[in-house]
Amino acid sequence: MPATKKISAATVRADFNDLIAVVHYTRAAHKLGLWKSERTLIERFFPDCNASLLEAGCGAGRVTLGLWDLGFRQITAFDFAQDLVDQARSLAIERKAEAIQFLHADATKLSAKRDKLTVPFAGALFMFNGLMQIPGRKYRRAALTKLRAVCAVGAPLLFTTHDRDWSPTERAQWRLETLRWVRGDQDPRLVEFGDRYFSEDEVGRTFMHLPDRKEILEDLAATGWKHGFDALRHDIARESAAVRDFSDECRFWMATRA
Ligand SMILES: C[S@@+](CC[C@H](N)C(=O)[O-])C[C@H]1O[C@@H](n2cnc3c(N)ncnc32)[C@H](O)[C@@H]1O
Repeated sequence: MPATKKISAATVRADFNDLIAVVHYTRAAHKLGLWKSERTLIERFFPDCNASLLEAGCGAGRVTLGLWDLGFRQITAFDFAQDLVDQARSLAIERKAEAIQFLHADATKLSAKRDKLTVPFAGALFMFNGLMQIPGRKYRRAALTKLRAVCAVGAPLLFTTHDRDWSPTERAQWRLETLRWVRGDQDPRLVEFGDRYFSEDEVGRTFMHLPDRKEILEDLAATGWKHGFDALRHDIARESAAVRDFSDECRFWMATRA
């Protein structure tokens, strides 16, 4: 029997380039825009609209165009799913935001020289769990390291993760998952404990690593980022039903480049 293939960056990229996912994220970019919590934290941690920002995992441009609407004019946004970048670029043209620079690039391999980035950036964002959609902790750390390399000292990085410990239900589910890993009964496609790979009718297939708080604190420290803030979304803002329908509870993080 052939060995089951582990989820890789190629799996995740193909899932995001899939038509179902492209329609889902494009619709959100056109209709949903920034969540209240995102707007609150962007205004708190990026108070200067003249700052040059780098957005990783921009998808179809939901946050990118939100930044533009908040008055940011020096935005570079990239994603490794080409079909999503094409959608983001087309939305920017439609909204007369052609000054936004879009790139097709992989966060784990980002290079100022190869990707022709004007560095250093005064701030960076990796929103809606994009960082956690990178399979393998060493690759998530590689992305944090590459982002650090193109940011100025003190630059804030805002990102979100899920949180394995956020509710009693989650904790109970992860206790069961622990037993599966101890017995070796986990989904063989998963790379590490904390991974999930699931499918939803209107979103398509999603890979997601769910960390605990300690893991992120360690990853930030190991990659030269200084933890500045973290909080669950419901403690930041009460989101509309549309936002809650689009995205589960998450934890926001802000770290500054050491
Ligand atoms: C959940 S989507 C969020 C998209 C968009 N930021 C939004 O909020 O609608 C996560 C995005 O991260 C991108 N992504 C995942 N891994 C990446 C990587 N290694 N390099 C660049 N983009 C990546 C995916 O292609 C996807 O567009």
